[in-house]
Amino acid sequence: MDKIAVLDFGGQYAHLIANRVRRVGVYSEILEHDTKAADLKGYKGIIFSGGPQSVYDRNSLKADPAILDLGIPILGICYGHQLLAYMQGAQVKHEPHAREYGLAEMEVKKMEGIFKGLNSKEIVWMSHGDTVMELPPGYEVIGSTKTGQWAALGNFEKKFFGTQFHLEVTHTKSGMKMLENFLDICGAAREWSIDRFIENEITAIKEKVGDKKVFMMVSGGVDSTVAFVLLAKALGADRVYGLFVDTGLLRKNERNNVEKSLKEAGFSNLHIKDASDIYFEALNKIYDPEAKRKIIGDLFLRVQANVASDLALNPNEWLIGQGTIYPDTIESGGTKHAAKIKTHHNRVEQIEELIKAGKIIEPLSQLYKDEVRQVGEKLGLSEALVQRHPFPGPGLGVRCLCVQEESFPRNYNLMEEKLDDELNEKKLEVFVLPIKSVGVQGDFRTYRNPLVILGEASFEDLGEIATDLINRFEDINRVVWALYPQNIEEIKVHKTFLTRERIMVLQEADAIVDGFIHEKGLDRNIWQFPTVMIPISINRDFGESIILRPVESEEAMTANFYRMDKNLLRELTDRLTKIDGITAVFYDVTNKPPGTIEWE
Ligand code: XMP
Repeated sequence: MDKIAVLDFGGQYAHLIANRVRRVGVYSEILEHDTKAADLKGYKGIIFSGGPQSVYDRNSLKADPAILDLGIPILGICYGHQLLAYMQGAQVKHEPHAREYGLAEMEVKKMEGIFKGLNSKEIVWMSHGDTVMELPPGYEVIGSTKTGQWAALGNFEKKFFGTQFHLEVTHTKSGMKMLENFLDICGAAREWSIDRFIENEITAIKEKVGDKKVFMMVSGGVDSTVAFVLLAKALGADRVYGLFVDTGLLRKNERNNVEKSLKEAGFSNLHIKDASDIYFEALNKIYDPEAKRKIIGDLFLRVQANVASDLALNPNEWLIGQGTIYPDTIESGGTKHAAKIKTHHNRVEQIEELIKAGKIIEPLSQLYKDEVRQVGEKLGLSEALVQRHPFPGPGLGVRCLCVQEESFPRNYNLMEEKLDDELNEKKLEVFVLPIKSVGVQGDFRTYRNPLVILGEASFEDLGEIATDLINRFEDINRVVWALYPQNIEEIKVHKTFLTRERIMVLQEADAIVDGFIHEKGLDRNIWQFPTVMIPISINRDFGESIILRPVESEEAMTANFYRMDKNLLRELTDRLTKIDGITAVFYDVTNKPPGTIEWE
């Protein structure tokens, strides 16, 4: 199959470039920036990605100069464009007046090569401080921006092109067309498709597994479920042992939904282990978040070890299946086949032995998340399953907070005059929730109290106030906004731990939230939506409170709280307050940092 190499110079967009190439139908791989020319001979084209450095820095990432003599077309993007010119003798400089960030209008000077079929003016997306100052031999300017700067260069004879802008982002309107043009120049056949992948992978799985069997933990998440289905399709039901552990901390009907979805797709060989009794027993009277997490993780290993020992996982007869996907195998700055262990496999002795012996099969390790979803759909899994949001391993266990004793912050004086004045002006009130949640500030995790804001305010104001208050008061790491009730007369904290009954209430709330965002079509805009329950009753003697925590994020390292339409929010709140035992609903208006996405 024809393929394109994307050399990674540390830009955050290398994955985006490779993903875009595949969408055009050409298989692409990310390779280390210093991959030797000899190893690139089999590729139809090479793309140099962007990167954060300057080419004239001594230690900046460079490419093997011999690549230029391979006779293979090259496209350089941003840093890649500067490097390509630099490697051919051109000067690259930091020019303060030439910096461009954001959208720019490019005048297309030559409607050929990568610019074939474009408009004479194109909107492109720039993000650069350095600039190419000279034309390397054989090059001409094919696009420039208003400031007279070179936006794109080309050497038509060698089929080398460079764009100062990022053609891989959607802000560059004709970016995909430019990429298609480059792939045409490379003569790359459009041979990559999901159907083709499935077909090839099934053959590859059969070859690799031979007459052995595969053991695989299925979590209900997209990757492990799709990997399981693909393995089962290739090998047949009796040769794949999929294990799904019901910890009792799953979402409402999770186990049935996963089973049903798999059945509908024609797979019935998932083994379910109901371990909920032992989980709730082990979590009895446990309050501390880390202790809860450890117990949940350890029990998972125990259940897994028991099954592994029942099956007698002999390395001559078994492989371990994993749902590792392509970005998991790449470390920034280049490829490292990390064979990342996503679950807790590595600590169960028998499984560890299989891993050590290299007895692992990862059928999705070439795919991006959107491609994994397409495979799932092609194999008949429901859309609801393949489009699901990420869900943490310890499940609702980390979304159901426990209290051993009330915790009011030290040194916190709400009567601080300045704060009172400010809030009065906005007709807002604040109070401290007597419970702690996890946050992250700098490199440290914090465990502090949230502050509640009462009153009508825009999300802009709420976001600003939240940032300001967290910066000002060191005992606060989160701010929530009261949706219901609006008048708070009495707050009661209840000493409690994780019980089946409490989890069932949270499951109900979580199911309502999940159903609501699907019904209203919000699920694609929201990256993850934890529904958290805290043992605090407001204006009532008993009950719990719900915190809504929808976030927008890329990779969960940072996140912004999602701003839901206020009318929709009222509707959702109404539905939640109908649940027996729910006394209040709050909305988390904290970004990450300083808050984490989860509350524990
Ligand atoms: P935080 O709360 O740290 O979460 O902002 C970042 C992302 O990680 C998920 N998460 C977990 N996933 N086991 C998991 O498999 C865990 O213990 C765990 N804790 C947090 C969280 O849901 C979010 O997507």
